[in-house]
Amino acid sequence: MRLENCFNFHDFRRLAKQRLPGPIFNYIDGAADDETTYRRNTAAFEDCDLLPSILRGVGDVDMSVTVMGQKLATPFYCSPTALQRLFHHDGERAVAAAAGKFGTMFGVSSLGTVSLEEARRISQGPQAYQFYFHKDRGLNREMMARAKQAGVNVMMLTVDSITGGNRERDKRTGFAIPFKLTIAGMAQFAMKPAWGINYLTHEKFRLPQLDTHVDMGGGVMSISRYFTEMLDPSMTWDDVAKMVAEWGGQFCLKGVMTAEDARRAADIGCTGVILSNHGGRQLDGSRTGFDQLAEVVEAAGDKLDVLMDGGVQRGTHVLKALALGAKAVGLGRYYLFPLAAAGQPGVERALENLRVEIERAMKLMGKTQVSELSRADLRFR
Ligand code: LAC
Repeated sequence: MRLENCFNFHDFRRLAKQRLPGPIFNYIDGAADDETTYRRNTAAFEDCDLLPSILRGVGDVDMSVTVMGQKLATPFYCSPTALQRLFHHDGERAVAAAAGKFGTMFGVSSLGTVSLEEARRISQGPQAYQFYFHKDRGLNREMMARAKQAGVNVMMLTVDSITGGNRERDKRTGFAIPFKLTIAGMAQFAMKPAWGINYLTHEKFRLPQLDTHVDMGGGVMSISRYFTEMLDPSMTWDDVAKMVAEWGGQFCLKGVMTAEDARRAADIGCTGVILSNHGGRQLDGSRTGFDQLAEVVEAAGDKLDVLMDGGVQRGTHVLKALALGAKAVGLGRYYLFPLAAAGQPGVERALENLRVEIERAMKLMGKTQVSELSRADLRFR
């Protein structure tokens, strides 16, 4: 399987599976409990049909959108995701560069393997910072000040990861940072020597957003332990209201699911909410962002921009979300598998596929602007 033969999400996933050691592939591919929500994320789009309008004169399509004050050339962006250097030695650098080429937003995670500052230098596009609320309030303040200094445009506070999700695939392989694998997990690494050689001959794995505070070298910090020990499960609306005021710029909550919480987000001064179930990786059985869109968009009115992520694999998925009122759609595994499969050229190819699919679907729907899409263009089964 080669990059030229990757036409869609499934092709990239297959190529990533060929290249990555099992524990790493399963960390990306896996989700919580029975992975019901993970499956449902994509299935939700399939319960909704598009109603094309004909003969609308669709020579030129403009798919640009404005989200939380940021102009994006495409209605999709690369959501912040953790640990990208494990998937490819260029990690966040490749994603930032690819997003920049497409004129869209990308995010760097608190658990990112490239620094906010370096990512900022790579891309001209808007940069989001995926932030976790730590027990150590000094650390939170310091991280925000650093983000401001780095020129981060949008703060994204993750609110669905107050504790670690039950990722049983990771339990089986022992996936943790630094590596501490089960025997079975180690055997899977031995089966992909090319990945191992590449990993050892490129720069060392780091977590530059956290490394002055978290000792990743000594003990083993699994993702689940990071969530459980460092993050603050007692975080409340009052704590976040203070953060929003301190940030004083574009601030959104990632992982909102209800109209009530969207209203509260607006009340404390947030400028956006992202409907997300963290790719099905946290609360299994949670409803999908797509299924909740109409309700939350209505509650948000013009007080907040509503975004969504989860399960997006096709241009038509993006169109359906936009028709329900999402201002833009976030991608996660959609660009992570291409990153693992082929680095920056892989991510660019995947983003180009999506851009072309959206352009084609808009033409077939009889639309030349994203603002022409509305609920009238959809029917639910
Ligand atoms: C995950 C976290 C780290 O889903 O975002 O693995």
